[in-house]
Amino acid sequence: MQPNMEKLGAYFADAPSDISLQDIDIARIPRHVSFIMDGNGRWAQARGLDRSKGHVAGVDSLRETVTCSVRLGVDVLSAYAFSTENWKRPQREVNLLMHLFATTLVKELPLFHQEHVRLRFLGDLEALPAETREVFQRGLDETAGYDVMTFALAVNYGSRAEIARAARLIAEEVAAGRMRPEDVDVDAVSQRLYTAGLPDPDLLVRTSGELRLSNYLLWQLAYTEMYVTDLFWPDFDRWEYLRAVRAFQGRGRRYGGVVNS
Ligand code: IPE
Ligand code: IPE
Ligand code: MG
Repeated sequence: MQPNMEKLGAYFADAPSDISLQDIDIARIPRHVSFIMDGNGRWAQARGLDRSKGHVAGVDSLRETVTCSVRLGVDVLSAYAFSTENWKRPQREVNLLMHLFATTLVKELPLFHQEHVRLRFLGDLEALPAETREVFQRGLDETAGYDVMTFALAVNYGSRAEIARAARLIAEEVAAGRMRPEDVDVDAVSQRLYTAGLPDPDLLVRTSGELRLSNYLLWQLAYTEMYVTDLFWPDFDRWEYLRAVRAFQGRGRRYGGVVNS
């Protein structure tokens, strides 16, 4: 959606010396921006705090990222909040995260209403505690009519499990005679992923300097531009977001072709 230029200018006032709104082309904002929100634990440990404090601080960064995405006119924002592998963490940390997801969503719902952001979840929500599932459902119901931006939060998400699930859904349809093996193509798989109907990410941002995907959107990131910052997630802000967009706009996307052919 077209950004509101007045709100955009106000949001990016007081720029630091190395980056400002003028450094990016507002007509070429990535349509879908995705985040691997990493480094909450290390942020807290560096301050002598419990890891949980890092997760709590990370909520502020996510709120800023949602608002920043709306101001820039991004169509789809997605963020990795909890992976299928994160269940391996100490029970206490898992419980805290599940509770934090629920309480944060309740607290932040007014922001989604105010900005007309539609909520969506990527992942298997069945395995989540009832409290979290109920709040998520409320968020989905209350924001279903909004179209300024889609915010897709990946919770209990794992890309391999997602692709295996798509294969299983297709196999069931073939076995039931509703689909022929020769109809199984890239679109058929895409339509059975949690991201069905969303455009693939144009830009992936990972914080905390890690150079890996950690089982995130393996299929959807095929031609996504990547930006890794050393900042821990609780330190991520609108200025680092602009730096990521500036880097994105400096890239030449070829999708396997050649330039000026
Ligand atoms: C990311 O921060 C948040 C989640 C995975 C839930 P981490 O908790 O992974 O923080 P680090 O990587 O241990 O610093
Ligand atoms: C990826 O971060 C998952 C999320 C950000 C939710 P991790 O911290 O779990 O990834 P690894 O273990 O460093 O690969
Ligand atoms: Mg991590």
